[in-house]
Amino acid sequence: MPAEALLQLFQRKPIQDLLVDDDRPDALKRVLGAGDLIMLAIGAVIGAGIFGAIGTAAAGQIGPNGEVIRTGAGPALVLSFLLLGGACALAALCYAELAAMIPQAGSAYAYSYATLGELVAWIIGWDLILEYAVGNVAVAISWSDYFTTLLRGFGLVLPTWLTTGYRTALLSSDPAVHGLLHSAPTIAGMPILINVPAFAIVMAITWLLLRGARESTTANNVMVAIKLAVLTLFIGVGAFHINTANYHPFAPNGFTGIHQGAAIVFFAYIGFDAISTAAEETKNPQRNLPIGILGGLAICTVIYIIVGAVLTGMVPYQQLAVADPLARALELAGLTTVGWIVALGAAVSMSAVLLVFQYGQPRIFFAMARDGLLPQWAARVHPVHRTPYVTTLLTGIIVALASAIGDAAETYDLTNIGTLFAFVLVCVGVLVLRHTEPDRPRPFRVPFVWPVTLLGASACLFIMKGLPPSAWLRFGWWLAIGLVLYFCYGVRHSKLRAGK
Ligand code: ALA
Repeated sequence: MPAEALLQLFQRKPIQDLLVDDDRPDALKRVLGAGDLIMLAIGAVIGAGIFGAIGTAAAGQIGPNGEVIRTGAGPALVLSFLLLGGACALAALCYAELAAMIPQAGSAYAYSYATLGELVAWIIGWDLILEYAVGNVAVAISWSDYFTTLLRGFGLVLPTWLTTGYRTALLSSDPAVHGLLHSAPTIAGMPILINVPAFAIVMAITWLLLRGARESTTANNVMVAIKLAVLTLFIGVGAFHINTANYHPFAPNGFTGIHQGAAIVFFAYIGFDAISTAAEETKNPQRNLPIGILGGLAICTVIYIIVGAVLTGMVPYQQLAVADPLARALELAGLTTVGWIVALGAAVSMSAVLLVFQYGQPRIFFAMARDGLLPQWAARVHPVHRTPYVTTLLTGIIVALASAIGDAAETYDLTNIGTLFAFVLVCVGVLVLRHTEPDRPRPFRVPFVWPVTLLGASACLFIMKGLPPSAWLRFGWWLAIGLVLYFCYGVRHSKLRAGK
């Protein structure tokens, strides 16, 4: 490749080009305030991580052949949450600086276009699919687990082959679930293993989003209120059923357990950054974005530490390796009705997460299409609602189909590694931009920029290291596919390269 072509790969988009004039016909409508953003952040953050992945983080995970995939943190899970809270706070500061400075749909994708060039921006945009779309696959599957538990409470039992995805059966160490590969009905020799509730909830959320952002944030506010109430109930009731003997040993697998536990329960923190994708629809983004991101993260960290302490105090940590650990802990304490209410709250909470992520992903695709890195039909804005309706519908269909056959633990890992990688690049991006554009107005500045950005990037890399080798392998494949796509399409259609 000639040197000039190589340099073009790292061509950076001038920041003024990222700022979309509100009068442009393809600009999105500014309707969100700081309160809406905090609610959106809580809506995105508290979900499958705290209601589902927390169990695996505490207890560890065994593969279908009895192999140890990861060790658990045990009661030291609270330390995993602390570690994650610190790492995410550093990354959040970096997100806040960039989001306030470049208030445009597209989040880390848009920031890296301005800081690290087109190739890195594409990699990040491609990588963010892991966070948003793949993350929602995990949430939809976890939602389905709680939903089927709820239905059972009403005496309605769906056949397991209609609530279990093919990959879940394939990867499970539970003989009853793994055995579905042989006992499920078949078509042409293939077992029918479809998670119907997971498919249905994603399609329902997509329908809601297609009706426009305003209605959707109102629905989100109601769901957030419910999830906070339910977690308060869990803490309030559970605290009276703590057996301090369960805290011994505190860290059964030492620091390895805390580290590997943190690597999966990191999923619980994902989402505070998602609200930066709403920048272009935010009123006064310079003030409201930092408040929304940091405020949302602080509230969630406190809640997680308390929930982790109560949960591991209620039940021996080994018993938490289930799909619905919070409800299970309450049931084991003889609190079946409270467990049922918490299960209901969990399903509601995860619906809120689905909503925010299904909202974020289309806006990233939209931003990429507007830059010419994806086909132009993906950049269409609805004439009345001013929403990116084509990408919203497409994301909905793809996520729904993947949720129907996917596995939660596998998708947690893939989402986590992709998101952590994006965080690393955002931290680095802040430093680069301070160097390349020192005089640009920064409504929010990261304090102690060198230590914060370098520590933030290192902490995220360190958490990535706690993920199993299978996650790294899949991540490598994902990036390789993305690069092939870029060199086949984006490189030829990029508007920046064409000087448009
Ligand atoms: N943080 C979000 C959740 O836990 C993704 O569901």
